[in-house]
Amino acid sequence: MLTEMRRIGVLTSGGDCPGLNAVIRAVVRTAYELYRAEVIGIYDGFTGLQPGGSTRTLTGDDVRGLLVAGGTILGTTNRGPFDLTPDGEPTPESLPNFQAVVHQGRILRLDGLIVVGGDGSLRIARVVDRLGLKVVGVPKTIDNDLAMTERTFGFDTAVSVAVEALDRLHTVAVAHHRIMVCEVMGREAGWIALNSGLASGADAILIPEIPFRWEPLVRMVAERRARGRTYSLIVVAEGAHPLGASPVYQQVGRLGGIGSVVSDELYRRTGVETRVTVLGHVQRGGTPTASDRILASRLGESAVHLAARGGYGRMVALRADEVVDVSLDEAVAACKLVPLDGQMVRLGRSTGVYFGDEPD
Ligand code: F6P
Repeated sequence: MLTEMRRIGVLTSGGDCPGLNAVIRAVVRTAYELYRAEVIGIYDGFTGLQPGGSTRTLTGDDVRGLLVAGGTILGTTNRGPFDLTPDGEPTPESLPNFQAVVHQGRILRLDGLIVVGGDGSLRIARVVDRLGLKVVGVPKTIDNDLAMTERTFGFDTAVSVAVEALDRLHTVAVAHHRIMVCEVMGREAGWIALNSGLASGADAILIPEIPFRWEPLVRMVAERRARGRTYSLIVVAEGAHPLGASPVYQQVGRLGGIGSVVSDELYRRTGVETRVTVLGHVQRGGTPTASDRILASRLGESAVHLAARGGYGRMVALRADEVVDVSLDEAVAACKLVPLDGQMVRLGRSTGVYFGDEPD
């Protein structure tokens, strides 16, 4: 079914991510070239649809040169007055803000809204869609933790940044006979740590899905030294934690600090000089890799076609390298964690990587 699509909105929401601008570019070009539809850019996520929020028409000129640009020309936020209950329903306090979003969509005469966001933003989008402003979701996150899509754009760039850093830390580790610990992002999922660790030949990879013990790591350092390897390179996901301990938070709701814990404890237990590097938001900034530019563009283009078919309440997703669509309900139902019996973990184990759960 081809519905009349004259005006669609687009917003980026949640943490920024390399490739957001490539999505915006694909949305604007596809909407205009194929459907002669106008695209309204909404600033700073859903807050742009609150009273006093700002929006503007995006033309082909506005999106020229955007493939290579990091960040998002529309701005984004991972805060906002859109609290949800654990069941994903608006709270009594936040409901009027959701209603204001829908009202503003009507004032702007939007036939639909393309929301580029991670799980938090897609949960908000799901409510907005149900309340009457029709939504198509586009998944984004460097964490790659959205269950219904095989890969999210931004992830490849984040891994590439981490690998470059790890390759550099490797030479420092060798030169100084040190243990170099590198903390990467990823929330409760270990995808960035696992992929960057395997690609850089890290000696140990600590991920949230595999709670670690100190003894195997200490033994790894000792055995390496006995073989003349006087250095070790360890990647730690921000959500990783020792068996029986909680993840480390730098602030309420903000993971961070496990790298220092690992570095300090290994120094205390081995006496080998250790240093820690926390990559942080470097992983989110800057130009996307070629692969992320293409994935972001494919998803943006597909989102417009889905909206034109009236496929609202759904999210575009990658499956078997094809773009498909799934309901927003399914999209936010579960988080995608590293499977312990998957090939990536097996590859690590087969090639001598420690995960910190090795038997004594
Ligand atoms: O979800 C993306 C992400 O970069 C996580 O990996 C990280 O835990 C979080 O966002 C950091 O968020 P903020 O930008 O609020 O510090």
